[in-house]
Order: sequence, then structure tokens, then C-alpha cells
Amino acid sequence: MSKDKSRKRRTAAPRQPGDLDKAALIDRMLRVDHAGEYGARRIYEGQLAVLGRRSGTSATIRRMHAQEQEHLAHFETLVVGRRVRPTALQPLWHVAGFALGAATALLGERAAMACTVAVEEVIEEHYARQIAALGDDEADLRGKLTAFREDELQHRDVGLAHEAEQAPAYPALSAAIKSGSRLAIWLSERL
Ligand SMILES: [Fe+2]
Ligand SMILES: [Fe+2]
Repeated sequence: MSKDKSRKRRTAAPRQPGDLDKAALIDRMLRVDHAGEYGARRIYEGQLAVLGRRSGTSATIRRMHAQEQEHLAHFETLVVGRRVRPTALQPLWHVAGFALGAATALLGERAAMACTVAVEEVIEEHYARQIAALGDDEADLRGKLTAFREDELQHRDVGLAHEAEQAPAYPALSAAIKSGSRLAIWLSERL
């Protein structure tokens, strides 16, 4: 091995027994990220359907929705380009994402923002784990995930600035949405 190569970190290397190989790891990453961005877009669509244009926060939500749309478009290209099978659960996330957005918006604007904070916290942690798992052989993908993670952190901050933490039953609401989001991630990696 040349000196140069030994310095560079490679994706899925070194592997421990039972670890996924690189192809399987990337396959799983792109499937779940594509699903997650799709779900995020649907959450904001559910919120906008309830809050409509009357709400002061709907312009803010529309901006976040537009960014999720950009993230989703990028993963759509990657899923096709790298021949990744999309999640079989997309019809479920279509309905569940919208329902989560609509239900939280029905509880009020603070609850809608609490939903954003909870979901984005789970997603930014998820992206951070993926970024750490990618080596220099996947520098492009790692760079994209880093940029998207920055956007998600900004969405979380928007939620906090809109008094998410003052939503009714915030700790319970946040915990429930986080467990649902983690389950959705686990399922979308596999199915
Ligand atoms: Fe996103
Ligand atoms: Fe986001």
C-alpha cells in the first residue's frame, strides 16, 4: 500500500465481522435518506395544508419545504444513478408524513414547530453518523450530507425561535415524534 493510500480513510473499512460492505452500506444510506427527505417534505405539506396562508409562520414553513424539495431531488438523482431500490414504504411515508404535519399544525403553530425541532434533531444526528461512516472515496456524498445537515440544523433553530418548546405537552410530543422518526429511519434502511 502506498503512503498516500494508507493516509486516506475509506468507506466501510476496516470491516468487523458482521459489518456491511461498502456497496450495501451506501445502498442503505441512500434509501433511507431519500425516504427521509420525502417524509420531511410531506410533513411540511401537511402543516401548510392546515395553516394555510393566514398563518404568520407559513412563509417560514414554505422556505423549509423548498429546501427539503432540493434535498429530495438530489437523493432522487443518486438513487437512480446508483441503482438503489427505493424504500417499499414510500406510500406509508406519503400518508404518515402528511398526517404528522397536519396533526401537529392542528395543535397550533408552536406544536408544528415542535414537530420540526424533534424531526430535525433526529435527522441531523442521523446525517452526522453517516458523515462519520463515509471515507475519502465518497467525498462528494460526504460533502452533500454535510451541507444538508447544516440546513436541518437551521430548520431546528427556526423551530426553536418560533417557541417550539412552549408547545403544549412539549416533552411528550417531542419524545413521541422522535421515536416515530427513529423507527421510520430503521425501517427505511431495511425495507
Ligand atoms: Fe432535508
Ligand atoms: Fe429539514
